[in-house]
Amino acid sequence: KKTANQLLVIFGASGDLTARKLVPSLFNLYIARQLPENFVVLGASRSDMTDKDFRNRVVLESKYLKPRLEDLKENYIQGFSDKFFYEDLGGDYDTHYDRLRKRVEDLNNKYHTEGNIIYYLSTPPTLYETIASRLAEVELNKENLGWKRLIVEKPFGYSLDTAKALNNGLQKYFSESQIYRIDHYLGKETVQNLLVTRFANTIFEPLWNRNYIHHVEITNAESVGVEKRGGYYDKSGALRDMFQNHLLQIVSLIVMEPPIGDEPEEIRNEKVKALKSLRIMKNDKELHDNTIRAQYMDSTINGEKVKGYRQEEGVDKNSTTETYAAIKFFVDNWRWKDVPFYVRTAKRMPTKVTEVVIHFKSPHHHIFQNSGVNNKDNKLIIRIQPDEGILMKFGVKVPGQGFKVERANLDFYYSSLAQTHVMEAYERLLLDCMQGDATLYARADEVEAAWEFVDPILKYWETGDDVRMYGYAAGVWGPENADELIEGIGYWRNPSS
Ligand code: BG6
Repeated sequence: KKTANQLLVIFGASGDLTARKLVPSLFNLYIARQLPENFVVLGASRSDMTDKDFRNRVVLESKYLKPRLEDLKENYIQGFSDKFFYEDLGGDYDTHYDRLRKRVEDLNNKYHTEGNIIYYLSTPPTLYETIASRLAEVELNKENLGWKRLIVEKPFGYSLDTAKALNNGLQKYFSESQIYRIDHYLGKETVQNLLVTRFANTIFEPLWNRNYIHHVEITNAESVGVEKRGGYYDKSGALRDMFQNHLLQIVSLIVMEPPIGDEPEEIRNEKVKALKSLRIMKNDKELHDNTIRAQYMDSTINGEKVKGYRQEEGVDKNSTTETYAAIKFFVDNWRWKDVPFYVRTAKRMPTKVTEVVIHFKSPHHHIFQNSGVNNKDNKLIIRIQPDEGILMKFGVKVPGQGFKVERANLDFYYSSLAQTHVMEAYERLLLDCMQGDATLYARADEVEAAWEFVDPILKYWETGDDVRMYGYAAGVWGPENADELIEGIGYWRNPSS
């Protein structure tokens, strides 16, 4: 696909995301010759910086990029860093938009970017609407000369109401087709591959329903704690930070019906339908029985003392924010009726891993000894990260007399594919937006449907009666009580890596 000449304006340019993800992704695109011929970046934020300061900060002196620049020719590096410019927006992102407009026009004229502009909102979310409205005031949202697109970082809303308000707020100034809500999990190859696994093969989809699937399990574990983001995280928690967005995106791809084709709206329509079919928990009993929350507590991992969540910097000493969430739910539609889904996400687990496990039902009549034992049933394990790949478990006969059945693995690793450049999530998503492809971005109704499901859980956790908060030692697979959620159905699969 051809990428039009364009200007990228990053709001929040002095923030961590710009240096850690956005600029390295642009650098990858630069190396892969995927940037358009005329392309410049204008950073904007509240810091007082010159163009030169900005180039040093995000390119030349950036700890995320510097090691990669070492063996490269100076003029090649300069070719990249010369694309970066900076504009100080003053105290509150509320003023100086006349100046910003002038700067945008100057850059556009000088570098022939044809009036095409992406605005990337990477500021605190409370500023999103302000920025959109100020851009509109100086007519920087007008598409009379070139297109305009708005990328919005997570978190998108804090609750159903705030997400709706944000959608309405942004849509006053930009049309839905101009708004790109980013969810970096959709930029992951393995997440996109869920669609291909299901809809480009004949061997899975016929079984992909309540007749053959016993339950679905999704685990997202991180070994790190909240790191330096305690202030943000304490107002968020695992459910908002990971589940509402990344994990429900994965759920929607597992649950959805086959789309007509691969056009953005065809795929997004099916995802919305999938999210709308999640059974919303209605009363305290349901919420109590199907949700578990917990916080990590101080512990010693590999001889090293680690802090408990409540001792982390920026976290309230009496915080009730969860660092672990496990949710059981059902999907009310023809395909999934009565199939339980178990989804958990947490920090300070023994390892970093994200995987989806499709647990198939036992054969309905057991002929061979041992063949009906639960852990010998067929499983399809989709490793989202790390060790990206797909593992299928099936029964084979143990050599020797009689018919003893053992489990064997068919295991595919992405790393075994011929050398291809696997794009980083942000790299892929940026390029898609640059080309106007919104398939891997969340639509307004999609985000709202996800919040519809999550909202009652959050409300219950905040104000319900008899809401339990469990603890788990940092470095273990969460609280033991989480086993109760899955008891009778199976047990959590705790992958070793
Ligand atoms: C982010 C969350 O969206 O995703 C972080 O805010 C989390 O808390 C991160 O660590 C996980 O992303 P990944 O790609 O490392 O799984």
